[in-house]
Amino acid sequence: MAKINTHYKKLKPSYFFSEMSKRTREFQIKNPGIEVIKLGIGNTTEPLPPTVIKGLKNGVKKLSNASKYTGYGDEQGDIRLRTALAEWYKKRGIVFDPSEIFISDGAKPDCANIQSLFSKNAVVAIQNPVYPVYLDSNILAGRNKIIFMSCSEKNDFFPDVPKQKIDLIYICSPNNPTGAVISRKKLSQVVDYAKKHKAIIIFDAAYSEFISDSDIPKSIYEIHGAKTCAVEIQSFSKFAGFTGVRLGWSVVPKQLVAEDSIPGQLNQMWNRRQTTMFNGASNIVQEGGLAVLSEKGQKECRKIISYYMENAKIIKTGLTKLGFIVFGGVNAPYLWVKTPNKMSSWEFFDKLLEEARVVCTPGVGFGSEGEGYVRISSFGHRENIIKAVEGIQKNLKI
Ligand SMILES: Cc1ncc(COP(=O)(O)O)c(C=O)c1O
Repeated sequence: MAKINTHYKKLKPSYFFSEMSKRTREFQIKNPGIEVIKLGIGNTTEPLPPTVIKGLKNGVKKLSNASKYTGYGDEQGDIRLRTALAEWYKKRGIVFDPSEIFISDGAKPDCANIQSLFSKNAVVAIQNPVYPVYLDSNILAGRNKIIFMSCSEKNDFFPDVPKQKIDLIYICSPNNPTGAVISRKKLSQVVDYAKKHKAIIIFDAAYSEFISDSDIPKSIYEIHGAKTCAVEIQSFSKFAGFTGVRLGWSVVPKQLVAEDSIPGQLNQMWNRRQTTMFNGASNIVQEGGLAVLSEKGQKECRKIISYYMENAKIIKTGLTKLGFIVFGGVNAPYLWVKTPNKMSSWEFFDKLLEEARVVCTPGVGFGSEGEGYVRISSFGHRENIIKAVEGIQKNLKI
């Protein structure tokens, strides 16, 4: 008799985004013809730049030619892309062998699957609030020793080093949802902690390319010693508009060691996991990824990132002028807005929708410490961003 994985019962119901859609739909039914601007979801909106389109087309074209056609590729990824990524890190002073870089179809699956390398008994520390995948994947794996690291205004939205012994620490910087970035000093302290306690850091750097402040680390490997204690998960989604195209990578350094492993073992284990359970990213998409990493591609992608960051500036300036306390939006595409008059996240969600016709994301959906905040995304067309800010300025009754 088959039995279910009962850990599924331990997940919080995923009503959150459906509840946002439901409330938005109800408003639209009650107010036909009124335009609602959605700044809730972190989905990219601008078209891919010409060099990247050319790369993708090149991938398609190769498939039409018998001498260039490729079927299954290496599960770890096209060696040209792995080498280009190693070069990309090298320009930042970080040296990797391509065999330490694994191409994936996006950061989300890697964020969910990486925990499979570690013991069921691992004590896991997760930021609160944060991107929900880290928590749910550990719950489904049956881990029950999960510690939440409170992230609030008091600690600049990044936790101090844990007091108790932790085995796995998830750090997301730039952070979704708070838009905060971890300082070099704080990240060095986390690395020192991990080295001392033989803990492993899972560093989600999916938004690293939005960092403009040169003092802020874009990669955990900028911190001395991180190769022995950190995995880095990365994505082409926000960096190059690949949210629908799907491409990411993870770095599992050969120097990485857990309490009971030897150097190279975790790299081999991830290699085994990927070759067994993943059949490689699309060859067309990997051609697109190569184009993103070309000099021209980088320039064009940076222009789009600047466009989103200009959106962030418009939102931040507009809301700050109204007296809102707004975090993030400087080195990240998300703005973390404190609700006025101690309103709950959902109360303010309704108010913003009903009065200003703008959809945001209630902060509480990312963890209990997100209560009293909402997340506003700067992904969107400029005219919508301007309309949203004007709508808030004109119609929101504070
Ligand atoms: C922090 C963070 N990591 C990972 C992802 C997922 O990235 P991908 O599209 O590469 O799966 C997201 C997507 O929103 C994210 O916010």
